[in-house]
Amino acid sequence: MQVEEEERVVVLGTGGTIAGSASSAADHVGYKAGQVPVQQLLTGIPALAHVSLVAEQVAQVDSKDMGPAVWLPLARRCQHWLAQPQVTGVVVTHGTDTLEETAYFLHRVLAPAKPLVLTCAMRPATALSADGPQNIADAIAVVRTAGARGVVAVCAGRVHAGVDVRKVHPYRLDAFSSGDAGVLGHVEDGRLRQLRDWPAQGEVALPVEALDTRHEWPHVEIVLSHSGASGRAVEALVRDGVQGLVVAGTGNGSVHAALESALVAAMKQGVQVLRTTRCAEGEVVGRDADPLPKTTLTPVQARIELQLRSLAR
Ligand code: SIN
Repeated sequence: MQVEEEERVVVLGTGGTIAGSASSAADHVGYKAGQVPVQQLLTGIPALAHVSLVAEQVAQVDSKDMGPAVWLPLARRCQHWLAQPQVTGVVVTHGTDTLEETAYFLHRVLAPAKPLVLTCAMRPATALSADGPQNIADAIAVVRTAGARGVVAVCAGRVHAGVDVRKVHPYRLDAFSSGDAGVLGHVEDGRLRQLRDWPAQGEVALPVEALDTRHEWPHVEIVLSHSGASGRAVEALVRDGVQGLVVAGTGNGSVHAALESALVAAMKQGVQVLRTTRCAEGEVVGRDADPLPKTTLTPVQARIELQLRSLAR
C-alpha cells in the first residue's frame, strides 16, 4: 500500500530582528539581532498548530553582515528542500535590512517553481507586541496558497515580489514597498488576497551548483552621484582592482560630469559599469545611447547582477 507523504513547509532561519533579543520588552532598538533559534520562533503560533513544519538554522546573523558566506548555504538548502516532492515551499526568516538583496540573489540563482517566501520583523522576538509571529504565520499562509510560486517577501500583511521589494522605512512595522509595481497581494485572516500574478520564473543567471564557496566573489561597488561629486572614489577603486561599479545616478540616472568622466575611464580599463537611479521609485527611462549602460535594477540589485554576470563568464 502506498502511504501518502504529508505536505510540509520548511522554515530556514538566518537571523535578523525577527530572531532578535532585548533586555527589555519595551526595547525596539537596543536589541541584538539573530539570537533566538528558528525552531523557537515557530512555537506558540496558533495558525501553525496543524501545519507540518521542518525548521533548520542556516545562519544566525544581523543581515547588515549578509553576503555570499550565508547566501551560498542558504541557496543550497532552499534548492534541496524545494526538490522534495512533499515540500510545498520554503520560508526564510531574515533581517529586514538586506532582505531585498537576498531575495534578488535567490531569484537569480534558483528562479523556483515552488514558493520561496522571505519574512522578517521590525521588532525583536522579545518585544511586547512582536510582529514576527504574525509575519511567519502570513508567510506560511502564502506558501500554502494554491499556485504560489517564485521568490516573494511577506511583511506586515503585504506580499511583495522578490524582484520588486525594497526597504523604505527604518522603524515602522510596514517597512517595505514594491515601488511602482505595487504589492502582489495582502494576507488577510490567513488568506492571500492576490492583486497580481506570481513572479515570472525567468532564467537563472547562474545555477547554484556553479557557485563555489572557494570562489572569491567579484569586487563590485556602488557609487552615488550627488551635488559636488568627484571622480576620486572611482579612481581609487580602479587602482584597487575593482571589477564592477554601479552608479546610483540622480533623477533619471544622470551622473555628475566629474564622476561620469571617471566612470567612462574605468570602463576603458575593463571595469563593468551600470547606471541606475538613486530615486526610491521608478527606473531610468531612455538614455540608451549614453556612454554608461543603464539598468532598470535598483543599485543593490545591480551590484548582485554584475557579480553573477562576472562569475558566469
Ligand atoms: C537585520 O536586518 O538583521 C536587523 C534589522 C531587522 O531585521 O529589522
